[in-house]
Amino acid sequence: MDKRLEFSRFAHSFSKDGIRAYFNSLRLKPVFVPNEIDEFLLPYIDALNKQKSLNQIEIDVPIAEIKNTVDQLIKNKIVISDPLFDEAVITHFKGTLGKPYIKTAFLLLTNRCNFNCSYCFVEKDIIANKQTLINMSIETALKTLDFFTEMIRRDQDQFEEEKSIILYGGEPLLNKETAIFIIEEVQRRKEKGTLPAKLNINLITNGSLVTPALVALFKKHGVKMSLSVDGNEESTNACRCFTNGKPVYQEISRAAALCRDADLPFGLSVTLSEESLDNEEATMNVVNELGAVSLGLNPLLNADLPIELKPDYGVRTADFLIRAYKKFRAEGISEDRMMRKALAFAHSSIYPFDCEAAGGNQIVVSPEGEVGLCHGFIGDKKYFVTTVDNLEFKPEEDPVYLEWAKRSPISIDGCQDCPALGICGGGCALVGYRNEGSIWNVDSNFCLHAQKTLEWMVWDLYDTMTEEIGKIFDG
Ligand SMILES: C[S@@+](CC[C@H](N)C(=O)[O-])C[C@H]1O[C@@H](n2cnc3c(N)ncnc32)[C@H](O)[C@@H]1O
Ligand code: SF4
Ligand code: SF4
Repeated sequence: MDKRLEFSRFAHSFSKDGIRAYFNSLRLKPVFVPNEIDEFLLPYIDALNKQKSLNQIEIDVPIAEIKNTVDQLIKNKIVISDPLFDEAVITHFKGTLGKPYIKTAFLLLTNRCNFNCSYCFVEKDIIANKQTLINMSIETALKTLDFFTEMIRRDQDQFEEEKSIILYGGEPLLNKETAIFIIEEVQRRKEKGTLPAKLNINLITNGSLVTPALVALFKKHGVKMSLSVDGNEESTNACRCFTNGKPVYQEISRAAALCRDADLPFGLSVTLSEESLDNEEATMNVVNELGAVSLGLNPLLNADLPIELKPDYGVRTADFLIRAYKKFRAEGISEDRMMRKALAFAHSSIYPFDCEAAGGNQIVVSPEGEVGLCHGFIGDKKYFVTTVDNLEFKPEEDPVYLEWAKRSPISIDGCQDCPALGICGGGCALVGYRNEGSIWNVDSNFCLHAQKTLEWMVWDLYDTMTEEIGKIFDG
């Protein structure tokens, strides 16, 4: 077999300050090469391939250093000797996709809301599709839990792995009775062992209907509450308001105070509007101001909505997310979106999906009990495939679930040459669908975020390594 050395088709590099960082986008282990060595890599590899004497290449750095670098590039699959290797690796990763198994249930307890946020992709879709405004009944909630219990029971090997139920809407606390019923029924099922111990209940709420009694109940049952806010008072009130137009920030602040008073740790769901980016410092400070323990930063999904984003929104958001990650990492506060990519990079493991819908690991249940994959389609019910009555439903045999379970950059043709291929997760399929008509399209703003994040992580690793080496030499 031909054993010529060549760069892998998944090899990429970034250059900065006299250093080139090489990496394989599916292996994610960078090799840092100073320019004075980098310039001799290709002549050296060429000499090896032609079996020329190595002293026939004129170099002014020790040949052992170049050899060592090429060995590192080979070890980390940046340079390969078998032309079939790349194909074997991508085929292997494609083979791991397409196996739906339910881990997350988004329950829309209502499609009603007492807010009218200008960017809301859920409410706008419900209104545009003239959906009847209703709450999920206790009967439907019970059937929903039966359905979820049955879906996860089927695979006993994965049963005890972490799962999530997300109480969502509309504003979920407009249907307090069903929320309480679900929280208590989940507890009963956990005690009986029909639902796994590691099942989290997350409530995402606009905060306006949080009461001391609810906070006490959430604390008793370990419900993880996330309050939605866009930054400080000015930024939040810019896009979020009551249906009568009144400002909302004071309500969010009141809900946060109730949680602090009751010692209930809570998170924030921070949606990044133009105003949040304009007031960057204040947006980041809202975590301390409200006393939250974690946050998720949501870039605005401009999924066919009546909102105008400036042309530089994608770049500004990508840079904001990196600065926010650095700040929160230093303060020991976890930010979900960046953390997931950072962990995948640190463990050199592929990150195939950026949400549970792509991956086929999620059910979304409408207030009427219809079951779909993505809550962004709650208005037109696209990709809603069955109902909670159908306990025979098999995601692993359903064509829609099977398609979504493969919706990863690993199997998107346009992603194959991207440096962020292994770390990206593919962003939001809903945006691809709304803007380009297919879940297989990617969101260019998301690509900016994934690619900039990767480059930042590579140089962050380099800085950490040089700092560690410096410490060793400093004794
Ligand atoms: C749809 S709301 C439902 C739960 C509850 N009503 C609330 O506001 O927290 C859930 C989250 O989605 C966010 N969101 C709404 N529209 C969005 C959009 N177009 N892009 C990104 N996030 C959005 C909201 O800010 C909120 O944090
Ligand atoms: S409170 Fe939540 S559901 Fe209601 S309009 Fe705002 S983002 Fe949408
Ligand atoms: S979605 Fe964009 S950033 Fe992610 S791999 Fe594909 S092209 Fe790259």
